[in-house]
Amino acid sequence: MKKGLILVNAYTRQQSSLNQSIRLKEELEKNGVDVDIKRNDCFIAQIDNDGEILSNVKDYDFCIYLDKDKYVSLMLERSGLRLFNTHYAIQACDDKMQTAILLSQNSIPMPRTLPGLLCYENQKLNVKAIQNVGQILGFPVIIKSSYGSLGKDVYKANDIAELCEIAEKLKFSPHLFQQFIQESYGKDIRVIAIGGKVVAAMLRQSRGDFRSNLELGGEGKNIILSQEAKELCEKVADLLDLDYCGIDILQGNNKYYICEVNSNAFFGGIEAVTGINIAEKYASYICKKVYGKD
Ligand SMILES: Nc1ncnc2c1ncn2[C@@H]1O[C@H](COP(=O)(O)OP(=O)(O)O)[C@@H](O)[C@H]1O
Ligand SMILES: [Mg+2]
Repeated sequence: MKKGLILVNAYTRQQSSLNQSIRLKEELEKNGVDVDIKRNDCFIAQIDNDGEILSNVKDYDFCIYLDKDKYVSLMLERSGLRLFNTHYAIQACDDKMQTAILLSQNSIPMPRTLPGLLCYENQKLNVKAIQNVGQILGFPVIIKSSYGSLGKDVYKANDIAELCEIAEKLKFSPHLFQQFIQESYGKDIRVIAIGGKVVAAMLRQSRGDFRSNLELGGEGKNIILSQEAKELCEKVADLLDLDYCGIDILQGNNKYYICEVNSNAFFGGIEAVTGINIAEKYASYICKKVYGKD
């Protein structure tokens, strides 16, 4: 009997996230895999007094890990369970600054990026350093929380006053400052890669916001991805060891920039725009990896 587990976050209410697990279950079942969907709130793994990891999901052949909790992913992997994505890939994408560092030194073009200035006690904002950020990157400046998603924690500062205000708000949590790619205002390309190969791409465009996320009102359009962008995305997926990912690309004058990499990218929107069955492709990739050809 083939058995798979899909693990979702304990607090997930979002329909797009719940749909993701239901669609993957459906497609895996077509491949003869019995699938359980579980919420990650039942302490699936723990460390006992002998320092061993006790897992109560040992009977599964694999787990599609739709959470981002890097502690549970590491424990499950150490207990011998094959995760899609792997713990390494999940933690590499969870933190945007870490993603940029891991991709660096590999000829991957990215917007110029500075790590945020973390404050550990309640001290006054270091205004001189923030002025320096403006000088290095030029205005507008993009500021991102390292752990944000769906466009919620991405900001644009048009001048030093706005930059100070946002830096003040974010000074206690990991964040980054980034060059604004002006030509890409309100637009980006979302690419899905499975097993290191691009399977779908769409242009996302917003009417009134510099962020193109569908969740913020951006609209998706079918596009044919250039060979250059395709090769760039496949290199990124390979470098971060991603079984599955969504990659956001910004387009400057004659140049692509990697904006961010999502290990848990929602596929509902891109399926609707392109008509490509992403869940089916991911399910059959997983079955091939876990069970071989049939
Ligand atoms: N450096 C940048 N220059 C121009 N636009 C950007 C830049 N960074 C992000 N954006 C816009 O903001 C959106 C959200 O940023 P992103 O880094 O993908 O965060 P999230 O994880 O919230 O989607 C992107 O899809 C893009 O439209
Ligand atoms: Mg994004």
